[in-house]
Amino acid sequence: MRKALYPGSFDPITKGHLDIIVRSHAIVDHLTVAVLENPRKQSAFTVGERLEMLKRCTEKYPGIEVDYFSGLLIEYVKRKGISIVIKGLRAISDFEFEFQMALVNRKLNPDVETLFMMTNSKYSYLSSSIVKEIADFGGDISSLVPPEVHDLIVRKFPRD
Ligand code: PNS
Repeated sequence: MRKALYPGSFDPITKGHLDIIVRSHAIVDHLTVAVLENPRKQSAFTVGERLEMLKRCTEKYPGIEVDYFSGLLIEYVKRKGISIVIKGLRAISDFEFEFQMALVNRKLNPDVETLFMMTNSKYSYLSSSIVKEIADFGGDISSLVPPEVHDLIVRKFPRD
């Protein structure tokens, strides 16, 4: 059984993330989408809120599990019996850091493969930071995030 992990901060999930999730789900038998609980990184959304958003967006796809982890990714995949890690690439600028992480993870466990999936070109400019910035200034994020989570995100950035 091909079991894969798509890890990330998902702070919040975007249409770009969901596109990678759906396309990954189509080529593996079981996909775990996991939020990194990282006390060193300031997040707009709690881990609970990020899990709720991921669940809302993925509940119609059988074979997708939503989870969270802390610590090293390679330890988490070992515990879960997962041997494929999927990362999305938007631009060359993503590549250098992702390449380094893939090599570090391979050093830590050579049995785990990192697969890079190219973003859908229509989302190549999109990131969670962009969504937060637009929402914070009261802009329209409806074309950037899945409809299931739109209101939840907007409510996080109240306008006076
Ligand atoms: O959505 P992001 O913030 O780009 O996701 C990054 C993530 C969570 C995939 C990455 O930071 C990660 O795997 N962190 C876990 C710690 C780890 O294993 N680091 C690699 C070895 S240094």
